[in-house]
Amino acid sequence: MTDDLKDADAIEAADQKYMMRPWTHPKGEPVIIAKARGCTVTDIRGKEYLDLTAGYFVNNAGHCHPRIAEAAMKQMHEVLQVSGKHGTVAAVRLAKRLIELAPPSINKTFFTTGGSEANEFALKLARQHKKKTDVAYLENGYHGLSLGALEVTASEKYREAAGKPLGKDNYAVPTAYCYRCKCGTPNTCKVECLDGVEAMFDARPNTAALIAEPIQAVGGLAPPQKWWDRMDQIRRKKGIMFIADEVQTGLGRTGKMFAVEHYGLKPDVMTGGKGLSGGVGSLAATMASSESCKDFFGGTTPTSGGNAVSAAAGLALIDTIVSEGMIENAAKMGRYFTEAAWDLKDPWIGDVRFTGLLGGIELVKNTATKEILGKSEMAKVKDGLHEMGMLITVSGLHGNVLRLQPPLSITSAQIDQFISALRKTLQSVRQG
Ligand SMILES: Cc1ncc(COP(=O)(O)O)c(C=O)c1O
Repeated sequence: MTDDLKDADAIEAADQKYMMRPWTHPKGEPVIIAKARGCTVTDIRGKEYLDLTAGYFVNNAGHCHPRIAEAAMKQMHEVLQVSGKHGTVAAVRLAKRLIELAPPSINKTFFTTGGSEANEFALKLARQHKKKTDVAYLENGYHGLSLGALEVTASEKYREAAGKPLGKDNYAVPTAYCYRCKCGTPNTCKVECLDGVEAMFDARPNTAALIAEPIQAVGGLAPPQKWWDRMDQIRRKKGIMFIADEVQTGLGRTGKMFAVEHYGLKPDVMTGGKGLSGGVGSLAATMASSESCKDFFGGTTPTSGGNAVSAAAGLALIDTIVSEGMIENAAKMGRYFTEAAWDLKDPWIGDVRFTGLLGGIELVKNTATKEILGKSEMAKVKDGLHEMGMLITVSGLHGNVLRLQPPLSITSAQIDQFISALRKTLQSVRQG
């Protein structure tokens, strides 16, 4: 077969013709990436971008880290994939490492091929253990796009894509969106937003579990300690299990190995994914306490769950972020990012929310009224940043948050580059 995809035009045309994408392309997308290293990616036209998405929040140690590539290459000459009935040294090593790093309430690991699947197994496990069917999730919560994960994903935009009404077994409980506090008590907060939750749980005695990200990645919503204290106390009182979704917040992203550590939470079940494969293939995990998984029946295993190459690469990712101080760097750079963004004193910057390098900048038309910056302006900001070589995504409950989750190795000089591009872009979009 001849390779006729020799130049950028041909590759882009073939992308349009042969690739199925789940959304219409905004201007400037897709960026087809030919090379990536550290925090930088280069597209097929040779344009360089600073990647503030870490390859969709996966490459926590940076793109193509040599230690990860080397570990994957070495594993490729040993064993690739075995039956789920058996195992590999790489997968056992990774399971052991995860359990050593996880909170003490978590004792065992089950490997899956993606975060949605890991959450679906977590739901199965909780339902089997409690012999109950219902699951509570947080407003604004995201736990994946497959049909089972959608059942506990809050966003209507995604739920509608299911093409059928979703079940009635699961229900949303309030989240902590303090910048837009619905109770009107941001300065005297006694966590009034959770006042009705006990009654909600009482009305649903068949509730097996609460699934939540400790910090919601969509919009970077980090609840205050007292919010989690109260929620955790209520769900414990009702005998409801806690599934912590660490697919995005795990592996150093928030300046701790896992985000539950910020709050001292002790989940019964914890899921992980994204960087767990070191960016090599796809690997995720459902981890659980010995007690809660004693009745676990998965049916069988996902075919590629625990792939040896992904596991070896994931282990190398963990070794790298630990030995190269990247978790500490994430905490430090998150603070740097926050100060630099506020220092812009831009009239459209309403809120800056970073926990480590899980960051969001919420853009508003008016900081006093918090009026949301409109879709078209948001699109122009994103396009402007792309033109200036900044790869970002937009998210949040109202689609007005710049989502900033670079590799954990980012430097202050690279953040300065982004901040300078943001200053120019916001000014230029405002001037029309
Ligand atoms: C918090 C969270 N849970 C689950 C998922 C789903 O993971 P995957 O896309 O690997 O299925 C994601 C993906 O973005 C996520 O951010």
